[in-house]
Amino acid sequence: MPSNSFKTEIFYQIYPASFKDSNNDGFGDIQGIISKLPYLKKLGVTFIWISPIYKSPMFDNGYDISDYQAVNKRYGSLADLKELFTQAHELGLKIMMDLVVNHTSSQHPWFQAALRDKTSKYRNYYIFRCGTNGNPPNNWRSNFGAGSAWEPVTGEDDTYYLHVFSKEQPDLNWENPELREEIYSMINWWIDFGVDGFRVDAITFLKKDQDFASISPDGNDGLAKIKRKSENRPGLEIFLRELKERCLSRVISVGETSGLRYNQFAEFVGQDGFFSMAFDFHYVDIDVESGSEWYRQTSWTPQQLGASIAKSQTTLQEVAGGWNANFLENHDQPRSLSKFIKDEAYQNEIGAKALALLYFGLRGCPFIYQGQELGLKNFKRTEITDFNDISSFDNYRRAQEEGFTPAEALNFVNKRSRDNGRVPFQWNNTTNFGFNAGHEPYIKLNNTCPSTTASEELANSNSVFNFYRKLIELRKNSPYQTDLVYGDFQLLTDVDTNVIAYQRGKKLAIYINFSNKPVEAQLPIAKVILNNYPELDNTDQNTILQPYQAILVERSL
Ligand code: GLC
Repeated sequence: MPSNSFKTEIFYQIYPASFKDSNNDGFGDIQGIISKLPYLKKLGVTFIWISPIYKSPMFDNGYDISDYQAVNKRYGSLADLKELFTQAHELGLKIMMDLVVNHTSSQHPWFQAALRDKTSKYRNYYIFRCGTNGNPPNNWRSNFGAGSAWEPVTGEDDTYYLHVFSKEQPDLNWENPELREEIYSMINWWIDFGVDGFRVDAITFLKKDQDFASISPDGNDGLAKIKRKSENRPGLEIFLRELKERCLSRVISVGETSGLRYNQFAEFVGQDGFFSMAFDFHYVDIDVESGSEWYRQTSWTPQQLGASIAKSQTTLQEVAGGWNANFLENHDQPRSLSKFIKDEAYQNEIGAKALALLYFGLRGCPFIYQGQELGLKNFKRTEITDFNDISSFDNYRRAQEEGFTPAEALNFVNKRSRDNGRVPFQWNNTTNFGFNAGHEPYIKLNNTCPSTTASEELANSNSVFNFYRKLIELRKNSPYQTDLVYGDFQLLTDVDTNVIAYQRGKKLAIYINFSNKPVEAQLPIAKVILNNYPELDNTDQNTILQPYQAILVERSL
C-alpha cells in the first residue's frame, strides 16, 4: 500500500444522482458536488468517495458502465471532474472513485461488438455459453433476487450470456488476459488523472467456478444463488494479486468484499494485502439472513450486535497491518437509524448520535454516507411503482414467488430498499429540500423526516451534524487522537446485556445503552468526553444510562 497515512482519513460517500442538482434537471451533478465542498470541509471529512459518474444508461444507477473513460452527461464532463479534483485538492480533500470491473453495461462497445460478431475478440471479454435443451446453461439465479443469471442472445440459437447482477450488466471474463490488460490500462489512466483512491465494486465476484455446473435449488423457482458459484471462489486471489500489482498499489483502495470469511482478511487487507481496507458486511446485515434476500429477516439483540462488531474489530486487529473500513450505511443499505434503533421514539437525534458514536469509536477508518450526518431515516412508500432501484423490483417479485402477499413484499422492500438512502439530499426546507430549483427529482423525496435538513443542523450546535463534527475533530485533532485512531479495541462485557461497550487504547471507553429503558451500571468514569444527552446521571457508586444514551469517556485507571 502507498503508505500508512490513510489511517487518519475520514471518508464521506456521495451518491451523485441524489446529492445536489446544480442545473435543475432532476439529477445531481458534478457542479453540485463542487458547490458543496465547503459543506464537506466544514463537516471535517478528508476523503470523498463518489459512486460511479461514468457514462452509463443507468439501469443500476451508474454501476452499469458503458464507457470507463467518459463522464455521464447528466453529471457533467471530464472537465467538470477535473475541476472537482482541483478544487477538492486545494481544500485538502482527496477523491475516491468507484471502480466497477466485474461487469460493464450491456451498452458498452465491447459487449455490442461481441453481440454483433461471434468471431470478434470481444466475445471472449464476456461469458457466453450454449444452453442445455432449450434452457439456460445452468440454474444460477442472478444476485438481485429474481430470475436466471443467463440471458438468451437475441438472434442466436441456444446462446446465453452471464450476468451476476441485472441482464443489463454482463459479466466480464477475467479468465481472459487481454481483457485484464485493458482494465489495468484504464485504471492506470484514472490514477494518472489524479484519483487518490478506488472503492472496488463487487470484487469478490470476479472468479466464477469454471465447471458452470448446476447446484441444488434454494427457492421455489428451481434456481440457486449464483453466489455459491461465483462469490469468493478459489482462484479469485490470483486476479486480485495481479490487480494490486498492476494498479491498486499506487493508491488507497477499499474492497467491497461481500462473502469474505474472517480467516481471509490477512490475505486481503493485511501487510501485503490486495486492498488498503475492505468492507466487512457481517454486522450491517445483521437484520437479514443474506444481503439480497430481504424477506428472510432475522431478529437480533444488542449483545449479538456488539459481539459481531467485536469479531470484526479483533480479527483485523490481530492481522498484521489489518485495518477496518467502518460503516453503517451506504447506497445499498437502508438508513441505519431505521434499522438499528428498534424503538421509533428514539429514531431521532438521540438514536442517530448513539449510532455515530458506536462506529466512529471503532478502530479503522469511518465512512459516512450522505445524509447519515443529518440523521435521516427510511421513507414509507405505499406503491411499488414509487421505487426506482432495480433490485427493489426484483426482491418484490421474488418475495411473492416465495409465497408472501403483495403487502408483505412491499413491507420488506420499504425496510430494505436501496432507495432509502438514495432519495435527494435534504439541504434546506425550500422546494425539493434545496436539492434543486424545482424540477421533479428522478426519485421521490423522503416523506418521513421533513424537518431534518443541513441548514437547520448547521445552525444548531446540538445537532447530529455537529455531533459528527465533534467526533471527527476528536479523531483529527485532540489529545485523544492516538487512542481513538490507533488504540487497541477491546469489548467490555461487564455491563448489562443491553449495553454495547468497548475500550480503545489504555483509557478511552464507549458505552451505549441500546434499549429504550434506563440501565444501571457501575462505570469507572474519570471524565465524560462526549455524550448524546445533556447530562449523565453518574456518582462514584452508580451510573444510569438513559434510553439509547451513548457516552465516550476517559476511564479512571
Ligand atoms: C455493488 C454496488 C451496487 C451495485 C452492484 C452491481 O454491490 O454497491 O450498488 O448494484 O455492485 O454493480
